[in-house]
Order: sequence, then structure tokens, then C-alpha cells
Amino acid sequence: MSVLIKGGLIVTSTGRYPADVFADGDKIKAIGTDLDNPADEVIDATGMYVLPGAIDPHTHLSMPFMGTYAQDDYQTGTIAGACGGVTTVVDFDLQQKGESLLEAIERKKSWAEGKTVVDYSLHPAVMDPRPEVIAEVKKAILDYGTPSFKIFMVYDFRVDDATMIKLLEETKKYGGLVQVHAENVHMIDHLNEVLAAEGKLEPYYHAVSRPNIAEEEAIARAAKMVEITGSRIYIVHLSSKEGLFKVKEARDHGIDVYAETCPQYLLLDEERYKEPDFNGAKYVMSPPLRTKESNEALWTGINSGDLQVLATDHCPFDFNGKKDMFGKDDYRKIPNGAPGIETLLMLAHSEGVAKGRISLERMVDIVSTGTARMFGLKDKGAVQVGKDADLVVFDPNQKFTITQSKLHMNVDYTPFEGTEITGMPSVVFSRGKRVAQWNGEQMDFVGEVGRGRFVKREPFEGF
Ligand code: URP
Ligand code: ZN
Ligand code: ZN
Repeated sequence: MSVLIKGGLIVTSTGRYPADVFADGDKIKAIGTDLDNPADEVIDATGMYVLPGAIDPHTHLSMPFMGTYAQDDYQTGTIAGACGGVTTVVDFDLQQKGESLLEAIERKKSWAEGKTVVDYSLHPAVMDPRPEVIAEVKKAILDYGTPSFKIFMVYDFRVDDATMIKLLEETKKYGGLVQVHAENVHMIDHLNEVLAAEGKLEPYYHAVSRPNIAEEEAIARAAKMVEITGSRIYIVHLSSKEGLFKVKEARDHGIDVYAETCPQYLLLDEERYKEPDFNGAKYVMSPPLRTKESNEALWTGINSGDLQVLATDHCPFDFNGKKDMFGKDDYRKIPNGAPGIETLLMLAHSEGVAKGRISLERMVDIVSTGTARMFGLKDKGAVQVGKDADLVVFDPNQKFTITQSKLHMNVDYTPFEGTEITGMPSVVFSRGKRVAQWNGEQMDFVGEVGRGRFVKREPFEGF
């Protein structure tokens, strides 16, 4: 199967230029002007951008959590991703008690087998840090192809600071990266008790129970662990201005703290928790939505380079039957998380580029090129000869109104309902094969279930 994309504007993380792209099999084989390579399919991309497929490095497919499961599995989640221009997913793989990291990886690979429609990789989450598990980190980095490790500073399955230090030491030696969910659990536990005693249990109090300072403190502490070990960390789903300042402060002192944020923390704020009819539950996620001031600070952080990656934290639970049942009378029981994989690229372009908040090149960097570099995806993340032909032919003028019924995520709502979008994928390719296309009203999935492959990633090489 070969494809020739003619007349588009190729966008990289550092520039843009008009050129044709020829892909044969899995790979990009040629880029140039007036290419005339014979191809099975020729696409007229006049007026379109040719982008590297987006990479979502923060998803929770089929994850058991808070008494239920994140609803998208590897099939529905990657179909939704493909329809949004996401051609690689790096999913969290939560180690169970007694499991080795390899067992956790094999377990999740078996869930993905025959189901994924785009390529995927895994970040093992260390939840049972036995000495032999810490010792296994070297193999995970060098042999298993999973050089990034998630740890939580909150939830029942959090690790303590001593474990964080041990992991930082091991990852420093072999080229790994520790990813941290940074919130101070004791502050949150205390506020949960205070709020419960006062009978404040509506969704809005979820935000009150997890203040910016809880994120700020945890990031500051994690950064100190990095300083003492000389290692590196990556803060996931950074949400607050205060947290960003701690990231920046560490970076200004030469400490290797990297961070991602997500569209919800750039675009939505805590007023959402006040929506009537329990609708605020739709936005119950951790960390919670913050203020408009934090939204603006995070856009600045993207432009300054203090934030390197835009991810989704895709973790969908139905509003009807899950969000509204489990925690009707108590925000602490509402499953934490929201859907997002399908709306990543359209929101980055429409709210970021089209509204003049970030450049097109910066968008490509934070949704693809930088993400590939951060997570060792050496064949992904750029429109370049030799890379995988994961491509999005993107129409910057196509209008779309986000609505749940026109999306593919296996969940009954989107937090971005009604958002007017400018710019949508026209055609999406995963390793040279068409997986999704615009049908005039919405995206259609046209790929092959099971074609996605597990991608072994390379150790961290610096950023
Ligand atoms: O609320 C969230 N973010 N749910 C998913 C799990 C996590 O903490 O990332
Ligand atoms: Zn988290
Ligand atoms: Zn998450």
C-alpha cells in the first residue's frame, strides 16, 4: 500500500514548508516538490496541513478505578483516538499487588492484542514497590521497551517518598523517566474530613478539597527528590499556576523537571462544578479544574517551554449510571476522570492556534514531536523520511461543533459539549494506512481493528 499526498503544507516543530509526501508500506519514503512516485492512492492536500499524527501519552484504557472501570478499551479508545488524529497512545499499566512489571505489561498487552487500531505503548505504574520490582526497572528500560514509570503521591495505591527516591536513582542510571501524579494526600484527607463534617458534599467541594497548594507542595517535594538524586521527573496533568511556578523554579535551578498539561486545565475552570442537575460531576477529576488565572498561566507555560507535552488523561466514566450513581450524595465517591482522547488535536488547533495562543509549530511539538522525544518513540512524531507514516492531513478551516453524538469515545458525554471548532483532520493515516476520514459532518473510522502494534520505546536521551 502506497500513498502520495500532494500540495500540502508540512508542519514541523520548528517550521512549515509546502511539499509532497510519499509513503510506502509503514514508512515515509520521500518528501519533495512535484513528487510523481506511482502510488495506490493520491491525495490532493491543497490548502491543508500535513501533520505528524498526535501522540497521547496519558490514557487509562479499561483501568479498574474507584469501584468501576474506565469505559474505553483498546478498541473503542484507539478508534476514538484515530478519529481525532491520535496515531499513538501510551497507556498506563497499573501493577497489581504481587505482580512483576513484566507480568503487568504482559497482562495489559493481552487486553490490547487484536484490538488496537493505532500503535500503542505502556507506562508501567509502580504500585507494589518490592525490592525485586525496583531492581526490574533496569530491564523495563533496556529490554521491555517501557522506559517511563508512573507513580502516584495520592490515592490508596500511592508510593512513599523513599520509594520515589529509589525509583529516581534507578531511572537515572539507565535512562528512565519517573512520571508523577503530584498532590499532597494528607492535605486532601484533612480537607475531605472538614468538608464532610460540614455536610459539604456536592461536586463543587471536590475542587475545594484539592486546592492548588496541594499540587504545589507535592511538586516542590518531588523536585527536591530530583535535586538530591540528580535524576529527572515528569509531572502528569499539571493543573495550577502554583504548580507551574514550582516546575519553573526547579527548571530555573537546572533541575530536570518536565511537565504535561491537558486541554481541560487550559480551557475549563472550577465554575463548571456548579452546573445544575449534578452536571458538575462530569468534571470531577484529579487534580480538579482550577481558575481562569491558572488556565492563562498554563498557556504561558506552553509558550515558555516549561510545559513540554499536551496529553489528555483520558479516563471516561458515563455520567448516567456512574458519575451520578456512585457519588450522588458524596463527591468523594464520584469516579475521578473524564474523556478526552478524541478532542486533543482539534482543541489544540482551534483553541490554541486559531485563537492565536500558540503557533502551529508549537502545537506540533506539544502534541507530537516533543512527546515522541520525551517518551523515546523514535519512529514517531515527525513528517520525515524514515519515520512511520503516521500522518494527519488537516483542514485548518473545517468547522465542527463538539457534541457527544458525533464522537466515538465509549461514554455518554464530553466535557467540551458545544465547543465550536475551527480545523479538523481530513484524513488520518497510521503507518501508511487510512484509519479515519472526514465525511462532511464528522469523522468516520475506516481502519482495521487489530492492526495497531505494541511499540518498544528507547531510553530517555535528554530534552
Ligand atoms: O481524575 C483522574 N485524573 N483520573 C484518572 C487517574 C489519574 O489520576 O490520572
Ligand atoms: Zn493522575
Ligand atoms: Zn491519569
